[in-house]
Amino acid sequence: MASTPTTATHVWPLGTTLSADGVLVLGGCDAQDLAREFGTPAYIVVEEDLRRRARRFLEAFAQRHADAEVHFASKAFPCTAVLRVFAQEGLACDVASGGELHLALAAGFDPARIHLHGNAKTEAELQAALDAGVADIVVDNLDELAVLERLVGAGRRQRILLRVAPGVSPDTHPHISTGGPNTKFGFNLHDARTAIARVEASDRLDLDGLHFHIGSQILDLEPFRAALEAVARLGTFRTINMGGGLGVPYTHEGSAPSIEDYVERKVDLVHEILGPGVRIADEPGRSLVATSTVTLYTVQSVKHNVSTWVGVDGGMSDNLRPMLYGARYEAVVVGRPLPDPTDPTVAHIAGKHCESSDVIVHDALLAEARPGDVIAVPMTGAYGHAMANTYNGQPRPPVVFVGDGRARVVVRRETYADLTSRDVANA
Ligand SMILES: Cc1ncc(COP(=O)(O)O)c(C=O)c1O
Repeated sequence: MASTPTTATHVWPLGTTLSADGVLVLGGCDAQDLAREFGTPAYIVVEEDLRRRARRFLEAFAQRHADAEVHFASKAFPCTAVLRVFAQEGLACDVASGGELHLALAAGFDPARIHLHGNAKTEAELQAALDAGVADIVVDNLDELAVLERLVGAGRRQRILLRVAPGVSPDTHPHISTGGPNTKFGFNLHDARTAIARVEASDRLDLDGLHFHIGSQILDLEPFRAALEAVARLGTFRTINMGGGLGVPYTHEGSAPSIEDYVERKVDLVHEILGPGVRIADEPGRSLVATSTVTLYTVQSVKHNVSTWVGVDGGMSDNLRPMLYGARYEAVVVGRPLPDPTDPTVAHIAGKHCESSDVIVHDALLAEARPGDVIAVPMTGAYGHAMANTYNGQPRPPVVFVGDGRARVVVRRETYADLTSRDVANA
């Protein structure tokens, strides 16, 4: 029987179709064909999804505030091709290490649109940022301030922001909550006053503004008010950067504020608390990239212990989030009829690694899977490739861009030879 393409729910990238008999089309490409051509596991990225989200952020700010800049938090998907898409779309870029700075420059970002972060930046990273001519450095602590003043040197000036911990914890997993009173990130309010006085007296540093980032996967926007009110007590400067954090719905029952609601709330808060003349910077990561990507795996084994365990050829080497903080995903068996939600087969999708925690989806509502089947897990664009590793000597997956029925590899699959490529001969 021919399948009727249906528009898939919000967990799938823009333009995806998923039929009742499990035919999955991503960026106009059949998922079975992609798995055959590029192998599995593989990250399949719908390029248009990335572009559309970047435009939505830019338009949402442009409609509400004259002076705003959207920075892609590159840690969410530190891949040159992804960064290049966002540079082309007119975003700026937040980097949190020398390596991310290298990627942003390789992707073609104008250094004047790159912003350096980090709670323990090395002197070499600060120097690299100064040499590149980045827009600003978001200073995290008093030690860094002293090093930076020394590196900038007499007769030169560097623009900075101060990262402040506003003492506010959003309702998210503790591992991705960053703005509470006892955090490793940023100045507490007392030290922030000391830092402001020090920078104001400096002949080398220009204080452009304040920054805070209270956490990630934020679904309730309310804590931004308390955070901004706390930071506003330090004074009003040219720029306020309220970090990123907008959450995304990882499963079809999930919901999250839209990009437009998030931008509106942040802009309204700035207008109310700091006034309309302030420059606003924002640093979305997850909400720009999560939905763009689907990871394809191949089933290697199916066993029935107390539960049904479907073993696939990837796992915590390509997606650490379920193991780090219990993140939930859902999955489909490509090419098998979608399960009846009233009578589902429930199975755990297990990774191949030597850890019991290596389970990609617990209690997945899944069609009966068999070895050789392709499993697709949506919503893997954020912090998937970013945290990929080679545990058990597993080569990292390729990144494949799809659109208009065409597919191209933008990061090749790692090889066994890559795994030994850093070995020093005769060591
Ligand atoms: C300073 C900073 N800005 C922005 C982000 C991006 O956050 P998200 O991916 O939740 O939007 C992070 C993430 O940890 C961050 O540390």
